[in-house]
Formats: sequence, structure tokens, C-alpha cells
Amino acid sequence: TEVPLIEKNIVLVGFMGVGKTSIGQALAKKMYRDFIDIDAEIEAKLNMSIPTIFEKHGEAFFRQHEKEAVFSACNEKLKIISLGGGAFTQEAIRQRCLANCIVIHLDLSFESWKDRVHMLIDNRPILQGKTMPELKQLYTVRRKAYENYHSRFSTDAFNVDEAAEYLKESLHL
Ligand code: S3P
Repeated sequence: TEVPLIEKNIVLVGFMGVGKTSIGQALAKKMYRDFIDIDAEIEAKLNMSIPTIFEKHGEAFFRQHEKEAVFSACNEKLKIISLGGGAFTQEAIRQRCLANCIVIHLDLSFESWKDRVHMLIDNRPILQGKTMPELKQLYTVRRKAYENYHSRFSTDAFNVDEAAEYLKESLHL
């Protein structure tokens, strides 16, 4: 049975560090909805930080828990859900989210993203040890995965509050 549009979860996807968590939190507040951060769910469930999960158990283990966390969040209604930047590389996650949620791709140009990389690196095992051309390559490959979306919003020229306000208005919910 189809969830009515106004009750659908809103899922934010996009590359690491575009602001999925901060914009998601701000949007949830403006829409009086609950916020679910998938990375935070995984960390709480396993009682470990993301870098520790990668270090101790590897990426495949993380991806399995990521899939379970997204599937369980998708069973909810009226939530704002932020995914990790790699979630949409999993076909099952893309299918699940596109089937019963409103998926918004938060975009950011590579030029703007580059300026943030120093703030991201410590908590993002995926970025560690990569050269700038390798990061650019990852950015390009990942961006293709985010092309499965219902709407796209470029965050380049906006702060967190402005982005959340714009999304709220554009959703008409
Ligand atoms: C990842 C992105 C991270 C986190 C993990 C892997 C990725 O989430 O899920 O470090 O593969 O892009 P953010 O997009 O919130 O940084």
C-alpha cells in the first residue's frame, strides 16, 4: 500500500560534507518532523565511531549495517532521513528509497567541496590517503549514483538555514 505523499519520508543524499546532516536537522525543525541520521544510527547500534567500524570490521560490514539502518528508517513515516555519502552506491538502498520516500540530492560543486576536505578527513575513512585527483575521481563516480533522485538542490550559494528554508518551500508539504 502506497504511503500518501504528505506522509512520505524525505531522504537527503549527496557527497560527504555537503551538509546532509546539518541541513536535514534544520529542515526537520522547520517542518516539525523527526530527524534520522543513518550514520548516527549505525554508530549508536554498534557503539563505535564510523572510523572504528571501518578499521575493526571493514567497509563491507559497515555497508551491511548501513543497508539495515536505511531499510528500517524507510519503514517509518514523516521522517527526515540523512544518508551517508556512500549509501546510494548500494542498489538495494537506491531502490528502497526511491520506491517509498522523496529523495533529494544535495549537490555541491567540486570547487566548493575541496575547501572543506581538511575538515572532513579525520572522520571519513573513505577519503584518507587519497590524492586530489583521486578525490575528484571519487566525487565524479559518486555523483553518478546520486543521479537517481526526485529533486536536486545546489547548496553552493546557500548557508544551512537558507538551504533548509528553500527545501521546505519547494516541497509544499
Ligand atoms: C561514506 C560517507 C560517510 C559515512 C562513511 C562512508 C561514503 O557519511 O557513511 O564514512 O562512503 O561516502 P557522510 O556522507 O555523512 O560523510
